[in-house]
Order: sequence, then structure tokens, then C-alpha cells
Amino acid sequence: MKRETELLHRGDRRAEWHGALNPPVVHASLYSFESLQQYLDTVEGRLEHYVYGRSGNPTTRVLEEKIAFLEKAEDALALSSGMAAITATLLALLQTGDHLLVVSCVYGPVRTFCDTTLHKLGIETEYFRPQEAADLSARLKPNTRLIYLESPGSLTFDIQDLRAAARLAHEHGLVTLMDNSWATPLYQNPIELGIDLVLHSGTKYIAGHSDLLLGLVAGPRSLMKPIRRMANQLGSALAPDDAYLAIRGLRTLAVRMERHQASALKVARWLQTRPEVREVLHPGLETFPGYNLAKTQMSGYSGLFSFRLQPRDRAARHRFVDATLKLFHLGYSWGGYESLIMPTITHARDNPALRAELGIDDDTYRLSIGLEDPDDLIAVLEEALAAWAGGTG
Ligand SMILES: Cc1ncc(COP(=O)(O)O)c(C=O)c1O
Repeated sequence: MKRETELLHRGDRRAEWHGALNPPVVHASLYSFESLQQYLDTVEGRLEHYVYGRSGNPTTRVLEEKIAFLEKAEDALALSSGMAAITATLLALLQTGDHLLVVSCVYGPVRTFCDTTLHKLGIETEYFRPQEAADLSARLKPNTRLIYLESPGSLTFDIQDLRAAARLAHEHGLVTLMDNSWATPLYQNPIELGIDLVLHSGTKYIAGHSDLLLGLVAGPRSLMKPIRRMANQLGSALAPDDAYLAIRGLRTLAVRMERHQASALKVARWLQTRPEVREVLHPGLETFPGYNLAKTQMSGYSGLFSFRLQPRDRAARHRFVDATLKLFHLGYSWGGYESLIMPTITHARDNPALRAELGIDDDTYRLSIGLEDPDDLIAVLEEALAAWAGGTG
């Protein structure tokens, strides 16, 4: 059976749900016990029973089983946001004195967390360029504990060699983590490539409708255990209503991804033909530096990519972005049904060296291509390019 078919039913327990196709939303902070013996069997680990809302919920568990299945993992955990998943995982696996290697194109707030909270705890972060993932041996120290990857990376979508990083990590007993939000488990399975733990901002494609926050971690039980304990301590449980909506999102993930992929490639290829556009950063374009490597790791592409316009002044940038707003929305996040535009002018604004290292400038824009007809999106972008070119800017 194809995974897309199995996903529709995996983890569903319709007999328990009186034949209902969808899981009940169990609103529960506490779970009660029928006897002292049942209580003791549960807390002493002889019986599986829900204990307290912060450590598990039956609706959330359905979502976790589906994600473990999709990521080919032994277990998965759902949390209240992608950042909750990332921070709980790092806090669970690292301790004072550890050194971790993080890819430089990592989602910005992860960098902030490493440079502030982990730094305060005496944990040292070293950043490496995405191409270095092919051989990180020169970066290893006796106290290196973990390698954090995000492929394709944020804003510029740089591809990292996941197999090579995983091989090196295993030779040295290190843990590898990979943020797989961009490709979704349908188009990339890092665990199959040797990565230990997969992280997701399920807020994006998995939820798919820009109406909830969700974080996911998937991996072997031995690593998931301390992460579950940490998530429980931090109190970052997912609300069951949001678990329900995410399960609903998963039911249409495959068809949505097909449309995101096809439309984004169409828009990206159209942008490539335009003289106003300097460069299009999309891992599915033959001109993209990581194109060949991406093909060996991913089976498809999502709808998020960037492009650079020729340099022009501030007024031209305003005319361009404002004209796109006829159909695109300007806002953070991505992966929903609606198309978005995000200028990178504000990213790492106070750190020009980091902006240069990340390869972003004031004329770089990120698009999240939604489920609209791509010809309508192209028509609006064409008008916006005309607005950009017009005026005296
Ligand atoms: C690549 C990536 N990872 C993680 C996150 C964090 O997810 P959340 O916003 O659900 O906390 C984001 C959010 O934009 C992201 O883009």
C-alpha cells in the first residue's frame, strides 16, 4: 500500500470511537484511576494509562502515531510549537560543557536560543556552512555532542549532505538532528538517511491552514524518552483541539503538497525568465547549487523559495511588495493554503556580517506559494514587477 493511502487511516481506532471516522477530542487535564492497584501499576510502569494532561493525551497520541509512521521512526512526540520541540530536544540531550555544531542557515530563533540560553548554561555552539556537512571532521572537538541540520535551510534553501553528516556522527557517537519542516515527511525521510532525530514545525505544511502552532520530534525510543521527560517539565503539551486540526491537516497533506510543488516550480521558472530577477533560490531548479544533492535526498519539493531582484532603491521595494499584496499576504510563517511574500530586509538587521554569510540582501524575497491558481500568482507578480520598474526609483 502507498504511504499516502496508509496515512489516511494509520493510528485511527474507529471501533473505539463508536465508528466515527475522526478521533474524539479528549479535553482532559487529569485522568482518573479505577483502583489503587491500577494507579500503582501505571506509575510504576507496568501498565500504559494516561496520567496527566501534560504528559499525554489520546487525541494527541493519534497524531504522534501518524507522524512516527510517516517519519519511519519508533516514536514521535507532539508539542505546542516547533520552537518547543527544538528547545526541549536540545535541553534534553545537552549538558554544561558540551559543544554542538549547527548549520549556519538554521531558522533564526534557533540561533538565538543557542547563543543566549544554551550559552548561559555553558553549552558552546559552533556554526558551519551548509556545504561543510559533507565533512565536518575538522570541526569536531572532544566535547562535541550533537550536529543540528536543516536541509533545505531557511531563507536560501541550502542543501546539506545528510548521509555524510550522519555517517561521521555515528563514527564519533554524536546525535544528529534535522529540521524537516520544508520537505515534510512525504518528500524527505532523514531517518532513512541515517539521521537520529527529526524535528518539525508542524505549524507549516502539516497543519496547512495557518490556524495553529505545532511542534513534532520523531526518533528512536531511547532518545525520545528524555525528550518526553523534558517536554513534560517545560509544560509544552499540545492542546487536543490543535492535535485534532493537525490530524485533519494530515488527511490532505499529499494532495496539498503536490499542488504546492507544481505551482511553486511554475512560479520559480517564470521568475527565472524575467530580466528584473537576478537569481531564484529553489532546490528544484537545475541552476540551484544543491540541485543534484537534493535529488539524492528528497523525492519532491515544497512551495517555499526565495528570489533576488536587481538592486534598486527603497521606494521601488515598497512599490513591488505593496503591489504583490493584491493576492499575496505579507507575514511570518509559511506552508498554509495562502500565498505569502516575506522581504528579508529585517532578518539579522543588526548583523551585516551574518546577513552576508547567510546570502541575504535588501532585494531578496521569500515566497510561500499557496493553493491558488499559479497563473493568478504570476499575473500579480508581473504587475508588481511593472510597479517596481515604474516611478523614478
Ligand atoms: C524551519 C523552521 N523551523 C522551525 C520553526 C519554528 O516553528 P514554530 O513557529 O512552530 O515554533 C520555523 C518557524 O517559522 C521554521 O521556519
